[in-house]
Amino acid sequence: MLIEPLLEIRDVSKTFPQPRTLLEVLARQPKRTLHALRGVSLMLRPGETLGIVGESGCGKSTLGRCLAGLHTPEGGEILWRRQPLSDIRRADRSRRIQMVFQDPYSSLNPRMTIAQMLDEVLFVHAPSMSSAERRDRTDSLLQMVGLSPGLKNRLPHAFSGGQRQRISIARALALEPEVLVADEPVSALDVSVQAQIINLLESLREKLGISIIFIAHDLNVVRHISHRVAVMYLGQIVETAATETLFGNPQHPYTQALLSAIPVPDPDIRSLQVGVQGELPDPLSPPPGCGFSTRCPFVMDKCEKPIPEFFDSGGEHHVRCIRAHSSTFSVPA
Ligand SMILES: Nc1ncnc2c1ncn2[C@@H]1O[C@H](COP(=O)(O)OP(=O)(O)OP(=O)(O)O)[C@@H](O)[C@H]1O
Ligand SMILES: [Mg+2]
Repeated sequence: MLIEPLLEIRDVSKTFPQPRTLLEVLARQPKRTLHALRGVSLMLRPGETLGIVGESGCGKSTLGRCLAGLHTPEGGEILWRRQPLSDIRRADRSRRIQMVFQDPYSSLNPRMTIAQMLDEVLFVHAPSMSSAERRDRTDSLLQMVGLSPGLKNRLPHAFSGGQRQRISIARALALEPEVLVADEPVSALDVSVQAQIINLLESLREKLGISIIFIAHDLNVVRHISHRVAVMYLGQIVETAATETLFGNPQHPYTQALLSAIPVPDPDIRSLQVGVQGELPDPLSPPPGCGFSTRCPFVMDKCEKPIPEFFDSGGEHHVRCIRAHSSTFSVPA
């Protein structure tokens, strides 16, 4: 039985107008637009962890921010249990979808104790709670993330990086969200601490039944925590599949290139390796067809236009590559 999606992202686009340099203004050059998201479609089921991977600048954070309501997409729609997210009151939306950021230090107010910070969140968003209830809730939130409530009167700088990330997670959980968008939540942490935070997120997901969108560039981390993975390239999703399918049978040349960067001992897997040639195209003028066509080792004339549709290769494995549409799809030896 298929479970109804909690979130559905349909053809979402987001651009950022670029400020012109003085020279461009004097030369009367038109304003340029950066295409950060170019028709992103995805869905998230209740209780699942969806990993999002891709090179720096491909739009991962922009997508996360659109979901959390920090950016407004210009095109497409985001549905929450089949209802447009934009129709849901702002306060309700931020209660349901919370973000955890990469750098817990800059996202915590350095002048507020942990108790004051959590109390403020509860005071603003749950006005019916008494101060005693807020105190209890603060203690239980800290326990939930593995911190002793006895530390709550300290300022953020008194904590280690891993502890600060636990505090950010406690703050994100304060309003009992249904979705956590974790944007590179362990990238700034020591490797030994990364595993602890990943395990914490995993156990919170199980215990609280929340869904997690886990954004990262570390494929091993994503593989470990995600049920499904979406690979992004230049503002588009190029492949989505269940984690083991994606890692075991990557079909998009970009996914294959990404995976080939992880050392694998298995010679069968290594034979799939393809290299990424050239530079990431300028997001101010992306290629008109497949975004990866300028670097793809298998590029053909027809890749240059139009943007390929998603191909469902079965079992919820979707690939945006015209080679996947033809029966001749295979990786040359
Ligand atoms: N507020 C903004 N104003 C202008 N351009 C932006 C803004 N936010 C993002 N961009 C641009 O949009 C594109 C996507 O950025 P985004 O931060 O979403 O990438 P990312 O995949 O999260 O990268 P990273 O792995 O480095 O965090 C980039 O070209 C970036 O420069
Ligand atoms: Mg980012």
